[in-house]
Amino acid sequence: MKRMRVALVTGSSTGIGFEASLALSRNGIHTFATMRDSHKSEAIKKKAREEKLPLEVLEMDVDNEDSVREAVLWIIDEKKRIDILVNNAGYGLFGALEDISIDEIKKQFETNYFGAVRAIKEVLPSMRKQRSGIIINITSIAGVVGIPGESIYSSSKFALEGLSESISYELKPYGIKVVLIEPGVINSNFVPNIRYPNNAEKKSKQKNLREENGADSGGSDLNHEIEMISTSLYYSNTIDAFLSHYYLAMKNAPPPTLVSAVIIDAIKNATMSSQCLFRYTVGEDSKSLAAAKKNMTDFQLHDYISKRMLV
Ligand SMILES: NC(=O)c1ccc[n+]([C@@H]2O[C@H](COP(=O)([O-])OP(=O)(O)OC[C@H]3O[C@@H](n4cnc5c(N)ncnc54)[C@H](OP(=O)(O)O)[C@@H]3O)[C@@H](O)[C@H]2O)c1
Repeated sequence: MKRMRVALVTGSSTGIGFEASLALSRNGIHTFATMRDSHKSEAIKKKAREEKLPLEVLEMDVDNEDSVREAVLWIIDEKKRIDILVNNAGYGLFGALEDISIDEIKKQFETNYFGAVRAIKEVLPSMRKQRSGIIINITSIAGVVGIPGESIYSSSKFALEGLSESISYELKPYGIKVVLIEPGVINSNFVPNIRYPNNAEKKSKQKNLREENGADSGGSDLNHEIEMISTSLYYSNTIDAFLSHYYLAMKNAPPPTLVSAVIIDAIKNATMSSQCLFRYTVGEDSKSLAAAKKNMTDFQLHDYISKRMLV
């Protein structure tokens, strides 16, 4: 009888991780849907019960080394192996760099970058010994192209892209494949979970106060400007223009199941192929931006993104 493969998915309480866990288990893979707060597990457990899926929920906070280690050890103890790791847990930190504190930047990297690194390091000994495995990193088109207003989110995803490309060489002799999934805007809980710099709001209030007292008007239409300022003191033109574009894009964005379907295809391809690094853009916006990056000069790309996202 064919052995059932074993997968671990991070950040399975909502969105892409939720759908990816269901899709993996529907495809006959024993799936550990991990989440940092197991109180959020009812919805996925209910689906698993109704559809009789091979899915278990485990607690795992990717920010916490002990939590990641305990979850991985638990799975290896029970199943003796992990065949597929999906590094999905993450959130967006949007805003102008000058407004974002170093602490907020570190937190973003703690989850989006170090969270994935921790999980990879914990599963590698087992994958190396079994001489097979698939590591799937959910990055973003923001990890391929620097998106305005997302400097820290973008750089956390660029970092994960660089790590993925680089480790594919050392993992190849052990039959471990690395997959990059680069979604564009997807309609999940990502937007309500976006964090903005604490500082921006404070500065914004300060600016309003100064303006009420007659300072710093710069001769512009103050009422309009005060109304618009919500995210930054000095960069509100750029940040607010980007956010208007972003929220509009989110309204028509595809669902997380578009990403989970690509994850399943990626696993099939990685299983069949001798190639060791795979890259998938997901969504029309991601595909067109990736093509623009490939085919345009830096100047053309800058102009293209400005016209597309900042007007
Ligand atoms: N939606 C998009 O437009 C989009 C586009 C490109 C890439 N992505 C990437 O796709 C991934 C999934 O995002 P999503 O769209 O599905 O958003 P989502 O619905 O907000 O899901 C994010 C998941 O990550 C979890 N998470 C956050 N911090 C965590 C931590 N420290 N430990 C464990 N889990 C943690 C969240 O758990 P809680 O419920 O506990 O908060 C949630 O389950 C992220 O890496 C995101 O950057 C999203």
